[in-house]
This record gives sequence, C-alpha cells and structure tokens, in this order.
Amino acid sequence: MCGIIGVTGADVPLDVLLGGLRLLEYRGYDSAGVALVALPGDDGSTASLWRRRSAVRAQSIAELESSREAAPRARTGIGHTRWATHGAATEANAHPHTDCSGEVAVVHNGIIENHRKLAARLVAAGHLLASETDSEVVAHLVEDELALGAGLAEAARRVAGELQGDFAIAVAYAREPETLAAVRRTSPLIVGRTGTLGVVASDIAAVLGTTRDLYALGDDQVAEVRPGSLSVSDLAGNPVDPRPVRVSWGVRAAQREGYEDFMSKEIHEQPRALTDTLLGRLHPDGATEFEELSLGEEVLGAIDRVLVVGCGSSYHASQVGRLAIERWAKLPATAEIASEFRYEDPVLDGRSLVIAVSQSGETADTYHALREARRRGATTLAVTNVVDSLMAREADGVLYTRAGPEIGVASTKCHVSQLVLLQAFALHLARLRSTLDADEASRLATGLAALPELVARALGKSEQYGAVAARIVEANDVFFLGRNVGYTIAQEGALKLKELAYVRAEAYAAGEMKHGPISLIDRNAVALVVVTRGALLEKLLANVEELRARGATVLALADEGDKETSALADLVLEVPPTEELLSPAVAVVPLQLLAYQIARTRGNDVDRPRNLAKVVTVE
Ligand code: G6P
Repeated sequence: MCGIIGVTGADVPLDVLLGGLRLLEYRGYDSAGVALVALPGDDGSTASLWRRRSAVRAQSIAELESSREAAPRARTGIGHTRWATHGAATEANAHPHTDCSGEVAVVHNGIIENHRKLAARLVAAGHLLASETDSEVVAHLVEDELALGAGLAEAARRVAGELQGDFAIAVAYAREPETLAAVRRTSPLIVGRTGTLGVVASDIAAVLGTTRDLYALGDDQVAEVRPGSLSVSDLAGNPVDPRPVRVSWGVRAAQREGYEDFMSKEIHEQPRALTDTLLGRLHPDGATEFEELSLGEEVLGAIDRVLVVGCGSSYHASQVGRLAIERWAKLPATAEIASEFRYEDPVLDGRSLVIAVSQSGETADTYHALREARRRGATTLAVTNVVDSLMAREADGVLYTRAGPEIGVASTKCHVSQLVLLQAFALHLARLRSTLDADEASRLATGLAALPELVARALGKSEQYGAVAARIVEANDVFFLGRNVGYTIAQEGALKLKELAYVRAEAYAAGEMKHGPISLIDRNAVALVVVTRGALLEKLLANVEELRARGATVLALADEGDKETSALADLVLEVPPTEELLSPAVAVVPLQLLAYQIARTRGNDVDRPRNLAKVVTVE
C-alpha cells in the first residue's frame, strides 16, 4: 500500500528520500510528501521541520523534485507515497503529517483502527487536526509524550502501545535532528545502517542502493535509528535483536534497465523468472526438491484436502494450482478468494492444507485468511515472492517464487511464477502419494522444464496483436471465455484488460454462457475464446459456434497450427502448443501483451493504473 522511507546522517537527505520514493511509488501514487529536519542556522535559529507535499497522482514525486532548491540544510528526513484509504487523495491528507507545534512529522502505512476515539480525545485536549486521515493522530500523540519529557523513540514506543490496527510508522522530530523513530505492527518495516547513515523503509527496494545491512522490525518493536547506529526494543522497552534481512537480488533488479516501463520489462523477464523458480526443484524423472519448504513428508502425506487462497492474479494462479493438485495428486482441492474465505466459517483441521498465494506476502485479505486457517488448525503454506514477508513468517511452510522484484502494479512475472511453482508442488504431492506413474511424472516434469522456452517463443509473437487490439478497442466490452484450465486463463486475461486498458471485460466459463449471458450476444458482441486442447475441445468449439450463430465476433487464442479454430474464429492469437494443464504460463503471455498494447495506445499509465495499488494492506 503506502510506501515509507526515512534517512538520518545524509549530506543531502532529500536525494535519498526522492530516490527511495521513486522506487516505492508502485505501492501507491495518489500523493507523496517529504519532511526534513532543517539544521539550526548560523543566525542562531533553532532546528525546525520543512515539509513539502503534492497530490497530483503520478506526478507528485516530480513536483516534490522541483522543490529541491528550496530545501534547507538537513541530515534527516522522512518521505511517503500514499494510496488513499482514510481521506481523499488531497494535499492536506498527504503524509508526512505534523503535530500542533509543527516539530513532529509522521509517515504511516496501514490502518489505525481506533483513530476516531484517539482523535476525539486529542481534540478535547485542544489539539487541532488538519487532515481526514487516521494517521495524523500519531503526530499529536507523540507531541503529548514529548511534552511529558520522553525522548523521540520513547514517545513512539508509548504511542504504539495505544494504537490498534496495523501500522508501520516513521517519526522525525525537530529537536532531535539526528534521530528517527520507527515502529510497526503487521505492516512491514525495514531498518538499516551504514557507517554513517541510518535508514528506515517499508520496502527493501527503496534502500538497497544505500546499504545491505538491513533488519526487519518484528511486530511491536521500536527502532531508534541514528547515523551509523540502530537500537531496537519491544513495547516494554526491553532491548531486542532485530532479524537481519537476506536480500537475494541486486539494486538493478528494481530499475527499468532500458525498458520504457516496468510492465514491459517484467513481461519480458518471464522466461528468466520461470527458470529461476524451477531451478534445482525439478528433476527430469519427476522427482521434486523444495529446500525451504519445512513441511515434511509425514505432514504432507497426511493431508486429505487442499485449499488455495489468493487475490487478483494470485487467485488466478491459485485456480491453476488447485486443478493440478486435484488432477495429479488426486486430492480434493479448491481455490478461494481470500477476502471471502476468511468470513465463510471454513471447516478445517490439521489434515487440511491451506496454501496462501501472494506476490508480496503482505496483502491483508490473504494474510488474514492465512491466520484464520491457522487459528482453525489447518496446516499452512505460503507461496510468495518476498523472502521473510509476513505470510512467509506466519505459515507453517513456505515456497518462494524467484521472480525478482515486481514493480508494475498489474502482476505478470510473479503470476506465472506462482502458477508454475504450484504445479511443481502438485507434482511433489503426487510423488508423495504415488498417484502418478513414473512415465507420467517424468513427462510432466519435462513439460514444466520446457515452459521458460515456450514463454520466450510466445513473447516473440508480438506482430499478431494489432488487429485483435483494434477490434477490442472498437468494442470496449469483451467476453473472455474458456473451459477448465482455459477458464483460469480467460479470467487472468480479462483482469489484465480491465486493470491496464480500462476495458470492460467479463470472464465466463464457456459452457455457462448458454445459461444466461448469451442473451447479451448480438452482432456487436466480441468474445475472446481461450482454446486449450484437451478433453473439452469439441464442447468448447460448439460453444464458439453458438456465439457465431448470434453474430458475435470471435477472437481466439489457440495453439500454432490449430486449423479447426482458425476456421471458426475471425482473428487468432497463436501460442506455442503445450500440454493442456501446463498451458496457462504460455497462454497468458499474449493476453498480457494485448492489454499492455491497448493501454499504451490509450495513453494509460501501465505501471500505475488508476485507483490500484501494488500491495493492498487494507481489507
Ligand atoms: C493488488 C494488485 C494485483 C495483485 C493483488 C494480490 O490488487 O493490484 O495485481 O494480484 O493485489 O497481490 P499479492 O501481493 O497478494 O499477490
């Protein structure tokens, strides 16, 4: 959701803050702001806060950059990029928020659930609140604690004890010009240092260019960050050792490296992401190895049911995963939308395996679904791209996708890595349960290992999108249809078109069209049919005939050389052929590129689509 960056001990802290905000912008881009602790002047003036905020959406950081010249001499500062939850995306609601004295500045990610009660108390005591946010109360609460004689870190500790909800907070104070306080509960926060600097950030990417000596704050831990030093304590004030963060990728991975945007970079990184995700995990004979899994054969062997939960593209990967688990490992498996699952009163026990699928490992809906599953006694597994993320720590076991940082808001390389990793895990379960014969296991392992190459081939076919894109733009309303695994691909294709190109797209199980939606089909209708070659092919083609008979334009996504489909469809997007259940990683590629191309043609910001955020840390 929101992004936080803070630095102390820097010669030009604004450079560190703005550089960090650029890398954090994918987390939210409704507004942005910075505050510096201006050093006392030679004229005897005392230290004070300097603050600039902007709420011109994707241009906010550029606007802050234009205020560089006005920035005072400082060593310390904090910055924030916001995705609005409480209060509209205005400058007044942009962070940092300050107290009444203007000496305390606060940036916050998360939700302070008891903010109304706290605000009422503060107002009754004479504080003036200047925004509609839940975050501002923190600045005023810190002000009160400082007035009682606490130092900055102590004040932050006392305030954290009063807050309910999820938060990651960094605080700067004019009278301690070389200190930052940082505290968190649920929402992640990283602290780090060099010999001369101290840093705070919500995301590793924001500070990786500065230092690799990084630590993840635990829940209810408070850090006092000073130039070259960190001290961390719990809410009772007892010193604790923060957990060092392992970073497996370099700073370049979070840069565009010559691509016009992160989206196209990440789409083109998919073969690499898949190769890395499968590396060392899959043997040609079908044997599997998951070093970090920590769920032994005894635990997995006792599982009698699997539920795969996720949101957005991760939910679509979950659907692919559940099909593979059911088909190969012969275990009853369902895919669940995380935000619904948690409130469905699910019946679970230790023999139920709940797999939480999340690129960020932080999405509130999925995280709370995972916690609920644990509370109900299920065995849990996180599939995530972020090492040591909330879900990685919460679950009984973890499997990491190795896609590298994904910055574009709409998921691409992480989505395909998730689904392929889930398929490899399905093979793992199948082997444990002896549900596949050796030839079949080996054939599937070989098929999985070939996916990076096939995805690379699919990426090379960009010349075929123009006509299909033009037809979709003209209609501005598309049905995405498929059956079985093709339906999961259709759903991801429709989501990509909605989130990037702002085209209304509805995914439907093709066989279900005749039970209602077919009444919408006329000569203006456009349907994109995902034709996967499996047992349901004939039935799917019959569904296509039903659409054609009513005048719809049929666009098809089909295997190269599929003459039958070409004969039926008005236009075809071709993909290299794969085994049906392995097809999603390959077939989704043209749909990503199609959405990307339409979005670019329309002048949309493909990395930062409107109203979306990369990591949604509210329910
Ligand atoms: C947001 C993003 C989606 C993403 C979803 C789940 O809504 O815009 O692209 O699929 O969150 O994110 P996760 O980090 O849990 O995979």
